Amino acid sequence: MSELIRRAVLLGLLIRFARSDDPFLTDPPDYIKECKIADKNFVNCSTQSIQQLFDKLNDGIPGLTSIKSFDPFHLNRIRISQGNSNAINLKVELANIKIFGFGHTKVIESLVFKKDYSWKTTFTLPVMKLQGDYSLFGRILLIPLNGRGQVFLDADNMTVTMHTKTRLYSKGGFTFYNVTNCRVDFKMDGLKSYFSNLFNGNKQLEDSTNKFFNDNWRMLADALYTVITQTIEDILLDVLKKIFHFIPANYFVSDIPTPEQLYGKTKPKPK
Ligand SMILES: *[C@@H]1O[C@H](CO)[C@@H](O)[C@H](O)[C@H]1NC(C)=O
Ligand SMILES: *[C@@H]1O[C@H](CO)[C@@H](O)[C@H](O)[C@H]1NC(C)=O
Ligand SMILES: *[C@@H]1O[C@H](CO)[C@@H](O)[C@H](O)[C@H]1NC(C)=O
Repeated sequence: MSELIRRAVLLGLLIRFARSDDPFLTDPPDYIKECKIADKNFVNCSTQSIQQLFDKLNDGIPGLTSIKSFDPFHLNRIRISQGNSNAINLKVELANIKIFGFGHTKVIESLVFKKDYSWKTTFTLPVMKLQGDYSLFGRILLIPLNGRGQVFLDADNMTVTMHTKTRLYSKGGFTFYNVTNCRVDFKMDGLKSYFSNLFNGNKQLEDSTNKFFNDNWRMLADALYTVITQTIEDILLDVLKKIFHFIPANYFVSDIPTPEQLYGKTKPKPK
């Protein structure tokens, strides 16, 4: 009898969990490490914890169904218009994008700032490959381009520095991070690229231009800097928002303040 009740209760809990529009963890997960920001070794602890989180993302965080796939990661569309020294009014659009490599993220350092609970996270991606449909209009390395086709990018040893802004909020007696902004810088050790159909079927010009891009990969990486950072930012912001609405911030930083403690109580409106 009691077993029956136990099962019924368990089933009830599971259903409530599944029906909820905004499920979140209420027990500390074993795949991350709780760290105390007041401790001397916080950075070391937090670095390990964020590494464990990235590792877990690879097989999927149990209960967090909104992240369909992390590696490869799918993005519908990126649109960039930019002007820089090598590209005058370069317009790039990528669509049906697949990015491989985030599953092998190695976290170098995870800093959390007590002042506003923003983060600075440094990590490396030994390999990062992107494939998708492109359209390009403008100049890259002085070459006038107006083409559309398929693009492949393959970056070696990318080091990414991510600056994340958050706003703390309360839910179910926990403090959560609302990840509001994510900006990245990167550097890399090499970039291989291939653009199909750069000149509407002129194969010879296409081959020589692709070779030129590979021989001058640093300049190509500069010309595509905004496209690449935008792609990484879109991925990370999406993933981080979902993770941190799901896992209480207390499970990462056990001594995190409540929003009231950090921002002060909101003053009652004058009558
Ligand atoms: C943290 O410190 C331990 C030793 O105190 C060290 O073995 C480990 O590599 C450090 N981890 C990070 C991520 O710095
Ligand atoms: C998170 O921040 C966004 C603004 O960036 C806001 O629209 C949203 O309501 C916030 N969510 C929560 C749960 O506080
Ligand atoms: C990438 O980093 C590894 C380890 O630091 C190094 O052995 C390799 O040569 C680097 N690759 C390139 C293309 O520089």
